[in-house]
Amino acid sequence: MIRVHVDRLVPGMVLARPIPNPSIPGRYLLQKDQEVPLSLVPRLKQWGIYEVWIRYPQLEFLEYLFDQDLEEQQRELYHRVRCNFERTMQNTGAVLDWQGFEEAVTGLMETLHRHRFASILQKLDAYDNYLMVHSTNVCYLGMLLGVELESYLIQQRRLKDPREAKDLRQLGLGLLLHDVGKVRIDPQVLNKPGRLTPEEMEHVRQHPVLGYEMVRGNVPPSSATVVLNHHQRWDGRGYPPRVDPATGEPLAPLRETQIPVFARIATVVDVFDAATTHRCYSAAKPPVRVLHEMRTVCRGMFDPVILEAFFKLIPPFPVGKVVRLSNGMEAAVVDFNPEDPYRPKVQALRTAEGHVLHDPSLHEFDLAIYRDLYIQEVDGQDITPYLPEDFWLYTPRPQHLVEAAPSAS
Ligand SMILES: [Fe+2]
Ligand SMILES: [Fe+2]
Repeated sequence: MIRVHVDRLVPGMVLARPIPNPSIPGRYLLQKDQEVPLSLVPRLKQWGIYEVWIRYPQLEFLEYLFDQDLEEQQRELYHRVRCNFERTMQNTGAVLDWQGFEEAVTGLMETLHRHRFASILQKLDAYDNYLMVHSTNVCYLGMLLGVELESYLIQQRRLKDPREAKDLRQLGLGLLLHDVGKVRIDPQVLNKPGRLTPEEMEHVRQHPVLGYEMVRGNVPPSSATVVLNHHQRWDGRGYPPRVDPATGEPLAPLRETQIPVFARIATVVDVFDAATTHRCYSAAKPPVRVLHEMRTVCRGMFDPVILEAFFKLIPPFPVGKVVRLSNGMEAAVVDFNPEDPYRPKVQALRTAEGHVLHDPSLHEFDLAIYRDLYIQEVDGQDITPYLPEDFWLYTPRPQHLVEAAPSAS
């Protein structure tokens, strides 16, 4: 099976995985082995579904990389968050189901410890509310990252017993609730498609404090601090601002290790998830582009240790994606190499002239070995400007990038 962008679907393409109905737990919009009617594409986009899994007989082995338990747990978490948040939006006096959240996060943690991260990053994509799916995905991504950072957590939380320091339940709970304060923000502002006015921006920036007031006393302090501090920045340019409780005078913002480590994890996964998800005011960007922006335009925002671990966790080219190689061949990404994330294994599907290769396994290239060959296009877009600078240490830079580079003189 392969991932196909919904704009690239053609008649006759058959689903390899069902498409869940985001509004009704346990129901599906389309079952597997059904053809996707092109008339459904606008509805799919409304629900955040921009890619679907399509049958490709020679690549059916990719199906076994999926963790069904994990998917069901994420969907359950999504519905739990949605029910709770919506109740609180309608009735400010409603109490959130704290214990239910804790149980769900514990279940997710056990699944992640059991399976760890294989090759497929399983973000939830079908949704009917951005805030709820973002909360669910930030929880999943941050806990996944937390598993990789266990020894860093012990080092950074040295006042805690090591077992407690690396216990991801408190992190997961904080991540799940990190944006809960947005239920107190005017939905007209929150869902505004255009640019926010400075007043509206100020209103939205209240959400960490509003959320902190909602969760304080109901969840462990280390979870509550994720809610309060997930917009702090490593270089001290985040918010909310601090004030001296005694004098009311402004204090210097939190920076570097003054920011609790759980909140530093939240910052990284929050930015990534928001940019890779379709929102009412911006289209989803491909992971390769978002990772590039996190290295460049976001420079200084993140804890470098956490960012490094994140780069080894997130495939810039998702498994199953059909890409164009620098030699013109069309190929599917079939594996992720955390040691060399931009050079995954691929299997060629078509020659540069467009002839179908009937057995892609005979044309498998580990791009970490074939270093002259690289991924040039994803969904028809040139992605070479998003490759990290050190990528070109081992691979000749294509002419158009050489010409675009500023001259040394
Ligand atoms: Fe936030
Ligand atoms: Fe967020």
